[in-house]
Amino acid sequence: MSFRIIGTGSALPACRITNDDLSNLVDTSDEWITTRTGIRERPILTTESVTEIAVAAARNALENSGISPADLGYIVCPTLGGDYMTPSLACVVQMELQANCPAVDVNGACSGFLYALDVADGIFARGKARYVLVLAAERLSRILDWSDRSTCVLFGDAAAAVVLEAGDALHYLEVTARGNLCLASPLAPGSCPYTEPDTRKPGLLMKNREVYAFAVNTISSSLKKAAEETGISMEETDYFFLHQANLRIIETARKKLGLPEEKFPVNIQKYGNTSSASIPLLLDEWNRAGKLKKGQHLVLCAFGAGLTTGLAALDWDI
Ligand code: UT7
Repeated sequence: MSFRIIGTGSALPACRITNDDLSNLVDTSDEWITTRTGIRERPILTTESVTEIAVAAARNALENSGISPADLGYIVCPTLGGDYMTPSLACVVQMELQANCPAVDVNGACSGFLYALDVADGIFARGKARYVLVLAAERLSRILDWSDRSTCVLFGDAAAAVVLEAGDALHYLEVTARGNLCLASPLAPGSCPYTEPDTRKPGLLMKNREVYAFAVNTISSSLKKAAEETGISMEETDYFFLHQANLRIIETARKKLGLPEEKFPVNIQKYGNTSSASIPLLLDEWNRAGKLKKGQHLVLCAFGAGLTTGLAALDWDI
């Protein structure tokens, strides 16, 4: 027994920052950002908290699923961090929803949504819950160095969720990690008087080309692996929901595999890279637009800091 998705939801900050806005902040241009990444604008948390958008996305997903917070058997939040170091974002959301179930955060960076599905799969395998809320919420804007043009243009803030019910829609799920600091953000220094000063540069440090190559290779090998493991070929797969990090990464991998554009939903133009929220945000958009039909074969694939990857093959079953 694994699970099926029975509903989706999302919530976004009100503030949108365009490429032109950013060109007033750092030495960049709409032309550079659009051609190198596909991104045109990104939502940024200004007045709202992570908790607020997370709770809104959770309510949205519960409503879409037709279940109430009291039905939840577990809340798992993929996130780099909510509004508190402790308690976890998942616990704060549980309090706000007045749910009565265990709640925990999972930090798998941009692969976090797939890591959270893996955790949920274990919960269902042990028969510990009938419904699990997997709720990704990210505030990349807090960790970025806003004077670094090579990273500050790439990311956005968002929350997106799925409600899972015990079921048999999942065909394959795999997560991987290969420890490597080519994409890393150090914690802010503390004030302990006994500790040596932390000399690491704050912000998000990324070896762009190395991560780009890793991303393209991950997509190509993961999509092939999903087909091998499930017996559902790439041609038979209806949609590939990929982590939205860069349109060029998606296009390069897609062309390498010789697959048509229609199989690859994209929304990075509007949101930038929202880390673990990017795949559930895209799923919610497609679900609400009525583009997902019962029985369709989907493959989800993510890659990110860690370096981590995540891959899932499942049928749409609503
Ligand atoms: O979700 C986690 C996973 N993350 C990713 O998958 C991101 C992977 N990497 C990428 O998507 C791309 O490497 C980037 C979009 C980050 C960068 O694109 P690129 O084509 O690899 O550019 P680059 O880093 O090789 O830089 C090319 C040039 C440099 O100038 P010089 O040295 O050639 O004069 C950069 O300084 O572009 C310059 N540059 C910019 N110029 C204008 C870098 N950022 C900017 C900018 N505006 N925002």
